[in-house]
Amino acid sequence: MIDMSAPMSNLPELEPKSVTNPPVATIASLAAHVGDTVTLRGWLYNIRSSGKLLFPSFRDGTGTIQGIVPKAAVSEEVFERVKSLTQESSIIVTGRVRADARAPSGFELDVENLEIVQLVPESAPYPITPKEHGTDFLMEHRHLWVRTPRQSSILRIRATIMRAAQEYFDTNGFVRTDPPILTPAACEGTSTLFELDYFGDPAFLTQSGQLYMEATALALGKVYSFGPTFRAEKSKTRRHLTEFWMIEPEVAFMDLEGDMDLAEAFLIHIVSRVLELHRADLNVIGRDIAKLEAVIAPSNQSVILSEATAGSESKDPDASKPSDTAQSLSAAKVEGAEGASAARSAFPRLSYDEAHAMLESAFKDGKLEAPHIYGDDLGSPDETYLSSQFDKPVMIHRYPAASKAFYMQPDPLDPTKALCVDVLAPEGYGEIIGGSQRVDSYDLLKARILEHGLPLSAFEWYLDLRRYGSVPHSGFGMGIERAVAWICGLDHVRETIPFARTLNRIYP
Ligand code: 4AD
Ligand code: MG
Repeated sequence: MIDMSAPMSNLPELEPKSVTNPPVATIASLAAHVGDTVTLRGWLYNIRSSGKLLFPSFRDGTGTIQGIVPKAAVSEEVFERVKSLTQESSIIVTGRVRADARAPSGFELDVENLEIVQLVPESAPYPITPKEHGTDFLMEHRHLWVRTPRQSSILRIRATIMRAAQEYFDTNGFVRTDPPILTPAACEGTSTLFELDYFGDPAFLTQSGQLYMEATALALGKVYSFGPTFRAEKSKTRRHLTEFWMIEPEVAFMDLEGDMDLAEAFLIHIVSRVLELHRADLNVIGRDIAKLEAVIAPSNQSVILSEATAGSESKDPDASKPSDTAQSLSAAKVEGAEGASAARSAFPRLSYDEAHAMLESAFKDGKLEAPHIYGDDLGSPDETYLSSQFDKPVMIHRYPAASKAFYMQPDPLDPTKALCVDVLAPEGYGEIIGGSQRVDSYDLLKARILEHGLPLSAFEWYLDLRRYGSVPHSGFGMGIERAVAWICGLDHVRETIPFARTLNRIYP
């Protein structure tokens, strides 16, 4: 487990080089410059004036700060120049940093000088004004919308989520091995593929790197990939992007229980990092921070649903039997997760059957509009209901195999169930992680490929992994945007990625 107090990286923070004097500072670093005269480079966010006093607020990508320009304190020329500023004009401003408890950033800038880099003409003003705009308008101007404080905060948190996710694997013995994006076959179902012409042959944009990760896991033991993935279903839900980023670990000799332990430790690390580094950004976007703190807090026994979990674990003592090595690897992970603190956060784990029973009684109590049909995958309202019942992510495991992917290992205790898990984020966010133990028998995998009507020839290489030294192995995939939506508390995934690709949008 990682030392949470260690710095994120050993690389020094670099400030942009400046030819101006005094040196260029960033708004985020002003605490170290109180009383000093600094130069900031950025843009005018907004300006208010009351006669002889101007209040321009500046942003520089690291934050925003309010400047104060009394007419008497600067030259006539500088005063007029500041007064002429229009929204989003680019500027270089010099001033003295003053601590001010009333200011949202904690500081104000007594402006001494200001140069205009480019003045946005008044005849063609910046289109996004501080007034309310509709989402369609904002998405159409996404290239500008990213400049607003809320969107900038979300993108900073996204960057930390991506960095923390990689950091977790990089510091726990995983080797990053990225799969191809252009692929000859489907991984997650043939109806959801973007097809393209590969020098006369059909090829597809990858839906998941998983099958390739299985190959590199059998080469290197613990691997992960991180890259863009694509889904072509014509879905318009608030959780669906056609292009999104997925991080996918895969581990040889790991069973489903080990996979769930890994997903838990991984999510706790990510949420911990965001809480450690982004309190200010979380406040800008109005996130209820207590909800995130609850995720990493040591578990209270009544919350972990210990009966349900213990029940499903003790019922199947053989679940992790495929090999002793699998057991010890999964045990090592739990130990690692516990190493951080004696009382650890444990996420509730429910079998599909247990989840179904909860949905049934919710429907009876009028808390769900439609009944959940046993055997069906969980619908969005079902996931929303289940995930809103817990203050930690909930893991739903062992779904009916019939509704799941061809590569999932059947449960030896009940082969109608797949050894798979979906992690549902709390507060109704639904699935953020999907994973499973993979079929390790050659005969069974071949039968599954044929049953699913997949072309055997495209999967010969994948079958080789079962011909030569097959072992039980497991992994999962987490969609970064789903994680960002949950951690930032957003209604829709379109705000979680710099430029969203959705059913109706490929511009800008
Ligand atoms: O559950 P999925 O489809 O699982 C897989 O692709 C496995 N092959 C992963 C693995 O085991 N290595 O997708 C995994 C995750 C989902 O839980 C969700 O977070 C995200 O990818 N995801 C999407 N995110 C945004 N838009 C979409 N259309 C998504 N589809 C899946
Ligand atoms: Mg899934």
